[in-house]
Amino acid sequence: MSAFCSEIFVNFSFSDKRLVMEKTGRNDPCPCGSGRKYKKCCMKNDGTAGVDFKRLYLQKYRIRLKSQKDIDGIAQAGRLAMETLDLVESRLTIGVSTEEINTIVHEFTISRGAVPGPLNYRGYPKSVCTSVNEVICHGIPGPYLLRDGDIVNVDVTPILNGYYADASKTFFIGTPGRDAEKIVRVAAETLARGISKVKPGNTLGDIGHAIQRHAEGQGCSVVREFVGHGVGVDFHEPPQVLHYGRKGEGIMLVPGMVFTIEPMINLGAKDLQILDDDWTVVTRDGSLSAQFEQTLLVTEEGCRSLTPFDPLAGL
Ligand code: MF3
Ligand code: CO
Ligand code: CO
Repeated sequence: MSAFCSEIFVNFSFSDKRLVMEKTGRNDPCPCGSGRKYKKCCMKNDGTAGVDFKRLYLQKYRIRLKSQKDIDGIAQAGRLAMETLDLVESRLTIGVSTEEINTIVHEFTISRGAVPGPLNYRGYPKSVCTSVNEVICHGIPGPYLLRDGDIVNVDVTPILNGYYADASKTFFIGTPGRDAEKIVRVAAETLARGISKVKPGNTLGDIGHAIQRHAEGQGCSVVREFVGHGVGVDFHEPPQVLHYGRKGEGIMLVPGMVFTIEPMINLGAKDLQILDDDWTVVTRDGSLSAQFEQTLLVTEEGCRSLTPFDPLAGL
């Protein structure tokens, strides 16, 4: 039989494939039907050699694996995103309005020849999301003046030469209280733990599991209704990246995937409410919520952040 080892697996889900491979003994006949021992056949190459993942992932999941040109473009947009967040951070103090954050982001983005992705996206009226205290995400900039002890997430998505990069950080205004310090630290730690699972052969479920386990272990909760996402050529591409889940479940990570991890972590319960503006998402119990987001590339070696920063810096 001349079946190429990996062919038999491509119609399986990857968790099925893992199961087959884990159950096959080294000296058993190879499940690909080659007639050789498993250890002399598919065990050697993990069953993925020769698979056209670009085609398979597009057909099966609508996931667009990125070319080197795409990656370079997204990385450039990512550098701009990080410069934008650094600029915002340098201007944040007590008394600054969220509208002023919008002006800073909008003007800086335009000055670099880029376009703010949020502006007019599905009717969103501003160029950045500014989510204060109990706001989970999609806070709309306005007249609100930041106060001592507030936390504010600033989420930017520049489009540069047609490429999107998506990143956010939560900042302290003045002196944080204990609750603020805790939720921002836990949110940052969950992003770091999620990123640590990004490597070929791991699954999206591995990422979600690591995030959920840490957040809940710290007595916090994970928002379910908003998730990470593929990004790069569009703002929101497949797949959805859940911030909760089970080890080994979900789509297998392969080189060329670009997606965000952006866990929204609440100090109290996970339940949310959307305000009458149809955008602002708040915790139902009024507890604090924090978030950090990066755009990540799966590489042969593991992971490269296209919006690099150390989530734990300064915490
Ligand atoms: N930047 C957000 C994300 O991480 C999406 C904001 S959509 C907007 O996916 F319309 F509110 F800007
Ligand atoms: Co995002
Ligand atoms: Co974002």
